[in-house]
Amino acid sequence: MIVVDRVAELRDRCDAARRSGQTVGLVPTMGYLHEGHRSLIRAARADRDLVVTTIFVNPLQFAPDEDLAGYPRDLSADTAAAEAEGVDVLFAPSVPEMYPEPTLTTVHAAGLTEGLCGATRPTHFDGVTTVVAKLFSIVGPCTAYFGRKDFQQLVVVRRMAADLNLPVEVVGCPLVREPDGIAMSSRNAYLSPEDRERATGIFAALRRAADAVAFGERDPGRVRDLVEEEGARHGIDFEYVEARRAADLAPLDTLDGDVVVAVAATVGDARLIDNVTMQIAGAEVFTDLGVITVAEQESNR
Ligand code: PAF
Repeated sequence: MIVVDRVAELRDRCDAARRSGQTVGLVPTMGYLHEGHRSLIRAARADRDLVVTTIFVNPLQFAPDEDLAGYPRDLSADTAAAEAEGVDVLFAPSVPEMYPEPTLTTVHAAGLTEGLCGATRPTHFDGVTTVVAKLFSIVGPCTAYFGRKDFQQLVVVRRMAADLNLPVEVVGCPLVREPDGIAMSSRNAYLSPEDRERATGIFAALRRAADAVAFGERDPGRVRDLVEEEGARHGIDFEYVEARRAADLAPLDTLDGDVVVAVAATVGDARLIDNVTMQIAGAEVFTDLGVITVAEQESNR
């Protein structure tokens, strides 16, 4: 594995790989790599010849009152993890290397970035799309891998790539959970043992949503109430609970087809996001928490 901190060197290496007929896969991260990131790297490794992983805590996607300064960082552990997963090029630039001048140009995906996390983080997604567009432009990947935990980010990046005709396939990889159900996130490092216990309530609340839908609930408002009720039982006060169409985050009157129930909550010092995706086909409901059918549920009663 080669560790690179210069844009020009990364670009040269990726150009050379493509010229020699290699395919390039990109896994953009902000570091503090956990099993979720490692699963993205493994997906890239399985698909592509040259795997590039980037580690860059992007200041543009943090508001002034957010956790940029305290965001967890551990470049030596990240280097070891990336090497163990078979990354070819690890790109860990400084802020001046990525932004030699204050950027005058940003990428904005209208509409999609306004609700859910965008409601309380109005500048966040512009920071994400801008840095991801820069990384796509430097690396020129044919495939880029993003986790489905950041579901809105995935939809936004996919739409940016489509709108701008960027020649990259954006792949969404499964959300990875800790054994207690908590979605893996670098920000879990902020949780005290008590907060961590409380944070399991987020998963319990999403399970409640999945179970309710499996039993036939199709009213998004009712599902939201159940999630909030279950969260409250665990001391979780959700910032938002939204049931949306998975493809484009459109609001729904009735839950049907591919749906995401997405939530955010602050637990202690950590703002956590999580979601469950569901494919609803008649009475059968497939979720990424497992396949649940009404018949199965009833036989388990
Ligand atoms: O998901 C993240 O870690 C970041 O938002 C990303 C995509 C690496 C852009 O900074």
